[in-house]
Amino acid sequence: MNILGISAHYHDSAAALVVDGEPVGAVQEERLSRRKHDAGFPVNAVEWCLESAGLDAADLDAVVFYERPMLKFERILTSTLRAFPRSWRSFPHAIKNTLGEKVWVRGIIASHLGIPRQKILFTDHHASHAACAFLTAPTHRAAILTADGVGEWATLTAGAGTRRDRRAEITLRREVRFPHSLGMLYSALTAYLGFKVNEGEYKGMGLAAYGRPTMLEQMRKVIRRLPDGAFILAPEYFEFQTTAERSYSAKFIELFGPARHPYDPIDLKSADGQRFADCAASVQRVLENILVDIAARLRRETGLHDLCLGGGVALNGVANARILAEAGFDRVFVPPAPGDAGCALGAALYADRIYLRNSDRDVADHPFFGPCADGLQLARAAREDSQNVEELDDEMLVERIAYALAAGRIVGWMEGACEFGPRALGHRSLLAAPHDAAMRDRLNRDIKRREEFRPFAPVVPLESADRFFDLPRGGARLGRYMSGVFPVRPEWRSRLAAVTHVDGSARVQVLAREMAPRLHALLEAYGRRTGIPVLLNTSFNVAGEPIVAQAMEGYLTFRRSDIDLLVAGSTVVSKRAAASFKESGAWSSSSEAASTVA
Ligand SMILES: [Fe+2]
Repeated sequence: MNILGISAHYHDSAAALVVDGEPVGAVQEERLSRRKHDAGFPVNAVEWCLESAGLDAADLDAVVFYERPMLKFERILTSTLRAFPRSWRSFPHAIKNTLGEKVWVRGIIASHLGIPRQKILFTDHHASHAACAFLTAPTHRAAILTADGVGEWATLTAGAGTRRDRRAEITLRREVRFPHSLGMLYSALTAYLGFKVNEGEYKGMGLAAYGRPTMLEQMRKVIRRLPDGAFILAPEYFEFQTTAERSYSAKFIELFGPARHPYDPIDLKSADGQRFADCAASVQRVLENILVDIAARLRRETGLHDLCLGGGVALNGVANARILAEAGFDRVFVPPAPGDAGCALGAALYADRIYLRNSDRDVADHPFFGPCADGLQLARAAREDSQNVEELDDEMLVERIAYALAAGRIVGWMEGACEFGPRALGHRSLLAAPHDAAMRDRLNRDIKRREEFRPFAPVVPLESADRFFDLPRGGARLGRYMSGVFPVRPEWRSRLAAVTHVDGSARVQVLAREMAPRLHALLEAYGRRTGIPVLLNTSFNVAGEPIVAQAMEGYLTFRRSDIDLLVAGSTVVSKRAAASFKESGAWSSSSEAASTVA
């Protein structure tokens, strides 16, 4: 049975294909259209999913949309009318926007794919998040917690899932409804801090480490706790329920001070800079406290030992780590794409297991479901462009790259299928030495062109993770998809300065050999040279662009940035100017490179 899942029309559109119960392809539209956070109908992603599986649209048994457009429309209409007359300005915009494409999804899908309307199904938005989290995790019974900005009405759901006798069940018993939303609170603060909503949340998280949660008193006015563990947002501090123009109100500014203009630099030495960092730290702390509390209640109510987390809020690695440490669960699973893109996969799996009652089965425990990078194509293009091209067997290639990294080179590393989800987990990564803060600054300044306070993440083999990072029980699992932030052991911080955040933490990827064997071998080779099998791992893209998907995008990025070497398959490309580096022959073995970090 062939089931296509689609998420679209909000941000990060995506498509995912499930064939006979197994995901065979999943990709965000942005990776193919090359428009960051592309929210349009994912024509390219759908086409790629079908083509790579050798299917036509006519072969699909069902197409599942990740939410219920009419309910969403009802929510937008109701909340706009409730806020009338304050909302009168935004009313036409909201209605046009919604009526434009969002409500008529069945017709849009039918006409794009040329399939009968009765093959098109819908899932609840949070059921899609829950299915993405639970049905892809290696567990058979788990509590489920999802949290995001908003779906139709729900903003947070809690429940449980079971997979037994080849049948899967998901029951979401409790929900918090719009406008009360942890995601909206975080987004409002993101906007207040001058970052772009739906993509600047990472920046807020990074900034939080520079501040102290000195504004918890104010936060308590903005978000109030209820006796049953839920929460409400005080409406007078927000405007997202009435207008699309600004998410926080004048009263919010009265409480926290003037907002930051997006073009103003953040000077952490200034009083305002510190105030913004303290704001970020305060909202972060409140978010963590509420999530830990709700998760702990869920643990007590269900008696279950595993927790699956879904929704965009599950991208908050600091909160995830606290949930693991404090809520009482043995294991916490976060999928590689917990946000709305992942809903495409969640919706397809939900329809397969729950609506259509197909047999449950284990799903491959990796994020590599996207387009492949072709090493031969790369070699051809680089030769035509007169760059240095080598084709090496795996062992030589790994040694070559380990040497280059130890010598301070930045490497674009492409391997097989690209990741589904916002993080580069070793198939579309920029790799660099993690030791010196100067490397962090160079990457931020010359390649990623982003704020200096933003940290980079390390990747470490599972076998060595405990030596460098203070992982609690279950921490390595959370680190599999870079979903937890953990302390770097103090004795290693100075030698892991490029990947250690200002508070001594790191969003570490803990790499199991079987997930990405060649990157694992590279980490080991690097460890043999330097004594430290850890690399800086950041997504392979430059500012404002999506992560590269195919070899040619990697090549073009390599050509117009300061990336020194590029790898795909057995091909290694280096820039012509760096020829002397290779000709020296030093890369095959070098004690000099090792001494740079010892
Ligand atoms: Fe969502």
